[in-house]
Amino acid sequence: MHTAPHDAAIPEETAPNEAARIQEVLDEVYEKYRNVDEGEVATYIPELGKADPKDFGICLVTVDGRVFRAGDCDKEFTIQSMCKPFAFQMALEKHGVAETLKYVGVEPSGDPFNSIELDAKTSRPFNPMINAGAIVVSSLIKKSPVEAGVEAFVDTMGAAAGRSLRIDNAVLESETLTGNRNRAIAYLMRNFAIIDEQVNESLHQYFAQCSLLVTCQDMAMMAATLANMGANPVTGKRVFDFRFVKYVLTVMLTCGLYDFAGGWAYEVGLPAKSGVAGGIFGVVNRQLGVSVYSPRLDARGNSVRGILACKELANHFGLHAFEFTNVGSSFMQWLL
Ligand code: DON
Repeated sequence: MHTAPHDAAIPEETAPNEAARIQEVLDEVYEKYRNVDEGEVATYIPELGKADPKDFGICLVTVDGRVFRAGDCDKEFTIQSMCKPFAFQMALEKHGVAETLKYVGVEPSGDPFNSIELDAKTSRPFNPMINAGAIVVSSLIKKSPVEAGVEAFVDTMGAAAGRSLRIDNAVLESETLTGNRNRAIAYLMRNFAIIDEQVNESLHQYFAQCSLLVTCQDMAMMAATLANMGANPVTGKRVFDFRFVKYVLTVMLTCGLYDFAGGWAYEVGLPAKSGVAGGIFGVVNRQLGVSVYSPRLDARGNSVRGILACKELANHFGLHAFEFTNVGSSFMQWLL
């Protein structure tokens, strides 16, 4: 059991080798968990069932653009629910905070990602990280024609990743064919006038967002873009308006892991988001982005090795938002 962050013990003379140490830690964490085979690959969207359960990648990108990798960091998989924070950012940028919050709340629901529930008083979904809230957000950022909205999302995500990205059409089709629960949620929200009458367009925007192909490195780069006040740390391109990033990171910290959000905030302490294809990414504000890819999920739909690896990295580097020594922060700042 850790009583203090591992790197609290790193003597100062090792400072010039901090980059090598980060790589070493990533390699250690990768080795420690590479043979864990608990959990199941998601199959409720049949295309996702084709993932290789052995895939495992860990990537960390600092806000000055240094990239550290272990394992399968270039394997493409769909972003799934990890699209939700970025779509929320786009809605805030397009409509502003007050208008966006008329349609979606910022309270943790404590319930699974696909719960069919709305706030009894306001009829809004509880937050933008659960499906109901994410469908509202999709409705807010969709365009006419609908493909223009999808393209805008894909382009923004490409700018955050630093390379051009594309939708996996087979996953999109599978998602659309099996998405009746999301359809039920969307029509329920239409009943309460939380989304407009273009229900199918909002759903298409949401399904397409979830079907974006990314790699573990892309996700760490996107996370580092959020950490870097919205500018991609390698290309230097400003992707997101920094005035809204704090709101996105807040809902990630409080709601990003659904009914494990409290346990996650307690144990790992990073704003983070998971997806059912097995990705998970976390942000250390102004310092770094981290991502893990491993398709085997626990009962709540979160990557088993993703959670283990993030916990371990947070412990090693003292990344928890409320770490008492904040050693991780100063350790990582030596890189700048
Ligand atoms: O709405 C769905 O079913 C998926 N496309 C996204 C779900 C997801 O990734 C949930 N997260 N863990």
